[in-house]
Amino acid sequence: MSDVRDTTGGLRWHWRAFWRRHQWRGTSRRIADWLHGTRPACRQLLLIGGSAGWMMSGPWLQRFERIVLVDIDPHAERLFRFNHGRALRAAGTGLQFVQADGLANLEALLAEHPRASVFFDNVLGQHLYRVRELERAERELEQLAGRLAGRDWGSVHDLFSGPVDPRTVPPAPELAFDALRDAQGLLAAGLRDTPLHLRLLAQVGGAGDWMDHLTSGVFPVGTPSRLIAWPFQPTYAHWLQAGWVRGA
Ligand SMILES: C[S@@+](CC[C@H](N)C(=O)[O-])C[C@H]1O[C@@H](n2cnc3c(N)ncnc32)[C@H](O)[C@@H]1O
Repeated sequence: MSDVRDTTGGLRWHWRAFWRRHQWRGTSRRIADWLHGTRPACRQLLLIGGSAGWMMSGPWLQRFERIVLVDIDPHAERLFRFNHGRALRAAGTGLQFVQADGLANLEALLAEHPRASVFFDNVLGQHLYRVRELERAERELEQLAGRLAGRDWGSVHDLFSGPVDPRTVPPAPELAFDALRDAQGLLAAGLRDTPLHLRLLAQVGGAGDWMDHLTSGVFPVGTPSRLIAWPFQPTYAHWLQAGWVRGA
């Protein structure tokens, strides 16, 4: 793809999200359940990579008095209003759109919105596609928490994704796990590293090589998170990680 928007958003994403929104309902509900348990410190929200909010909770957005949607995708604003405009108007929540790279321009956005909580809405897992360099992507993702020091922020992002064999999906899969990032890495269900990966993959029928989205170092040590399965299509799935970092 010559245009990076095709690998992280853009019309292909909107088309897919529109048609799959019913199949993705369980994942959207699990994200909403997690969001509803968050306690953002600010009434303003910088929503980075929010796209059209296909998987975003309207009631959670209604908590804010003002939302600044930051996305590189020029179609994001119109489609976000299509999905959430009515709920935002009903709650008196203002919406402003900024077409920009929210990571490259993060410091400027933070300075312009000093009293906003920040939420990266399924965007950090695609950083790799944007910079197209493994080491740089991993380093920049690990540096993000430092750039946000003192701010109240959260993220839902891809941890892993890969092929699945629909025939091996268990009849009653566990599609969400509470996790903690400790000094050794990610801990969930008493497992870490390979045993944890195998447990997660088994829930969605994971088969073959899975991709690491290099996001395991995004949250600082001590951050609790929730791992949420996203059966993306019958033969491909993602595991998402959602977490919130309290500002100082
Ligand atoms: C997977 S989509 C997000 C979907 C969104 N959570 C939803 O519910 O529809 C990722 C979005 O991030 C945007 N994006 C990717 N990198 C970005 C960046 N550096 N700054 C701002 N937006 C970015 C893409 O344009 C795309 O709209």
